Amino acid sequence: MRIAVLTSGGDAPGMNAAIRAVTVVALALGHEPVGVQHGYRGLIDGELAPLALDDVADALRRGGTLLQSARCLEFHEPEVRDRARTVLTEHDIGGLIVIGGNGSLTGALHLSDPAEAGGWPVKVMGIPASIDNDIALTSLSIGVDTAMNTIVEACDKIADTASAHDRVFLVEVMGRDCGYLAMTSAIASGADMVLFPEADRSEAQLVGAVADSVLAVRKRSGSQKVIAIKAEGIETTPDRLKELVDAELSERSGGTAAPIETRVTVLGHVVRGGRPSAFDRLLGSRMGNVAVRALVDGEHRQMVAWLPPVDAGDFGERSVHDPYCHLMPIDVVLEATRQLLDGQSPLARWRSTIFDDLQDVFLL
Ligand code: F6P
Repeated sequence: MRIAVLTSGGDAPGMNAAIRAVTVVALALGHEPVGVQHGYRGLIDGELAPLALDDVADALRRGGTLLQSARCLEFHEPEVRDRARTVLTEHDIGGLIVIGGNGSLTGALHLSDPAEAGGWPVKVMGIPASIDNDIALTSLSIGVDTAMNTIVEACDKIADTASAHDRVFLVEVMGRDCGYLAMTSAIASGADMVLFPEADRSEAQLVGAVADSVLAVRKRSGSQKVIAIKAEGIETTPDRLKELVDAELSERSGGTAAPIETRVTVLGHVVRGGRPSAFDRLLGSRMGNVAVRALVDGEHRQMVAWLPPVDAGDFGERSVHDPYCHLMPIDVVLEATRQLLDGQSPLARWRSTIFDDLQDVFLL
């Protein structure tokens, strides 16, 4: 079988490990791996070329994606997907592996929709990759672990200067629709507080919460060294938040105490780059392996999910190739993702309130 692989949407460290695994496993099983450059955009433009062992020799340790990525809005149009199907058929592709996030998996679902594609014979598999960890029914997506490590390392560094100058730092981290990275990295870096959209706080509440933390830290330790992590998904910009926090702190101290200095750091795309962690290399490699073998087994329209080997209930099937990997129907994944992002699923509800329960711990 000729097995095509593409990366789409925002890149994530560990995508290269998945591409490498797809390449080596396909070759080992006697199939032909084919790389599609620039995601769905490159697919419709026919940017396909065979992948050889040499192409992926250094892939494991590199961030980004050697196949490059793109956001392709035209892929929402059925005629454009028709063109993609024609290109794949012309190149005699039997299976396509899409490595990417929510939007990329949605593209894979539409591309392979029997109502649209008729008897189109190409089998499609998805591999979740997004630093935001905003894909449901997989405990982790490729890139999350590295991104979290990057944030923690940055916060450790910021803590040094915050301590030296006795300052408050507002640190913004990526996560357009999902506060997962902010929440987990706040715990892992020992931040003093975290702001994330799932908690659904008003601007005044956000400002009040930062001021509460600063004043609690000062009361406890006499220091103003505070790290507050803010998820990108919170609409108030970091600069506006700083202005409002400054005003609130000055008002609460009645202008008597020494002014508290605040600074803003936006980590931005730094969080998306860098050498993948060992775990992301492992995750990408194992998901790539399972995706190829599942395609060869005749699986179709499934996403490889990472779930600890416990009973996962009614959803999907455990891969016979790796007990940590499940095969989840993509439509089920996307529906669960919608509920996660809408705040309707039990996990979303847990995420939105867990920090309320932890509030006392943070204010200690
Ligand atoms: O990859 C997901 C993500 O990192 C979001 O957290 C962020 O908002 C977005 O990508 C930004 O991506 P780009 O600058 O490529 O549009």
